Amino acid sequence: MASNLTVVVLAAGGGTRMKSKTMKVLHRVGGRSMIGHVLIAVRAMEPERIVAVVGTQREQVGPHIQELVPDAVLAVQETQDGTGHAVRVALEALDGPVTGTVVVVTGDTPLLRGESLRAFAEEHEAAQRAVSILSGEVANPFGYGRIVRNAEGDVEGIVEEKDATPEQREIAEINSGILAFDGAFLTEALGRVGNDNSKGEYYLTDTVGIARGDGLTVGAFAIGDVMQTEGANDRAQLAALGRELNRRIVTQWMKDGVTIMDPESTWLDADVVLAPDVTILPGTQLLGATVVAEDAVVGPDTTLKDCEVGVGARVVRTHGELAVIGDGANVGPFSYLRPGTKLGAKGKIGAFVETKNSVIGNGSKVPHLSYVGDAEIGEGTNIGAGTIFANYDGTTKYRTRIGDRAKTGANNTFIAPVEIGDDAATGGGTTVRRDVPPGALAVSSGPQRNIEDWAARKKAVARDKSHEA
Ligand code: UD1
Ligand code: CA
Repeated sequence: MASNLTVVVLAAGGGTRMKSKTMKVLHRVGGRSMIGHVLIAVRAMEPERIVAVVGTQREQVGPHIQELVPDAVLAVQETQDGTGHAVRVALEALDGPVTGTVVVVTGDTPLLRGESLRAFAEEHEAAQRAVSILSGEVANPFGYGRIVRNAEGDVEGIVEEKDATPEQREIAEINSGILAFDGAFLTEALGRVGNDNSKGEYYLTDTVGIARGDGLTVGAFAIGDVMQTEGANDRAQLAALGRELNRRIVTQWMKDGVTIMDPESTWLDADVVLAPDVTILPGTQLLGATVVAEDAVVGPDTTLKDCEVGVGARVVRTHGELAVIGDGANVGPFSYLRPGTKLGAKGKIGAFVETKNSVIGNGSKVPHLSYVGDAEIGEGTNIGAGTIFANYDGTTKYRTRIGDRAKTGANNTFIAPVEIGDDAATGGGTTVRRDVPPGALAVSSGPQRNIEDWAARKKAVARDKSHEA
């Protein structure tokens, strides 16, 4: 790769068509901001330096960029006077004159891949051009800068939509917005770019005509996969690019040995990792840094964010976040795993069970209709149906500890902090307020009383009353 490469990322524009308080490049697809996808592609080029131009809402964008690429230089463009002006601001933010290659990218192209940028920069350097344009052929070139060629087919310049003649508007070859420059030429040429055009802006694209005028080499390098350079300007385009990104991610995982029954209804974020022979059933979203191990089956209708799913686990109609599901474990249907849930190997979290900040040990089961909060459950323990771990007294949260091989009855309430020992048991309907020693049985409800002939007596009373009336 280039030995002295500078990448400029343009992200100063407002993105008004998003109609959002969130700046355009911060809108997310595939689990990352648009600029996050771009920065990952840029980093794959291993550039010497990255300069990001921020302007509108820089207090949002600046910290986000610095979190993703801590050594990026932030250049502030106070007023959005055009792409040429933005790049000048970027170069001025660097110490000393820029030499080597400068690649300019825009911050709103979430499908952009590092390989494409690398190939483009390599082609630019091999051809020793002053300027290279990453170009593309699109069905509807409206809005793009058109690549103007002479009779010999050499690139003469780029003309923007608003400045183009009707004939130029027919040109389907467009400027993707990604350009590569010889750094010394760029610095010098930007000083000569004016703003005498229909937008009154300093166009970066004018440097192409300047290079031609100087007799320098310019050229266009066509990207076959034009979607990689497509930007999202409004929410409809954002959704379209998001769907396409998802289609690509899903297709790649299928090639890598994952069974995905319905690619259309399966959503996988860019950072999700799936092992071979995982099966994803329809209506499933795997988000964030979710990792699924071999032979696990997830879905249908399941959303997991930042979760770990173990080998051969089964997760049906579940919503989970920051949860760990052990090897061979069973979850669902209709389970809600909140952050800090850790289900051991061969464990079970069943129907209508909510868990939070709780460890459920290997082989332990919470099969039905329960709330498990701030609990530690040992191994081989069974929690009865309809159990509530009452962890909160209105001010403080407390933990419940249950040992190994315990069997708790149906409809229990554990008033934390409380501890139930190994091999202990509780009766149905027990409210556990005090610790239960290992091996003990706890019962809290009093002896049952049966009132004989209650129904008949009730009827008799009602009859007497109606006679009185
Ligand atoms: C630009 C190109 C056009 C190309 C198209 C591809 C120019 C003059 N035109 O047009 O040839 O086909 O991109 O999408 O370069 N920006 C700043 N500061 C500014 C202005 C823009 O940082 O002062 C940033 C924007 O945030 C955006 C990028 O530069 O990320 C492109 O700007 P935009 O106004 O969208 O340019 P286009 O008119 O689309
Ligand atoms: Ca644009």
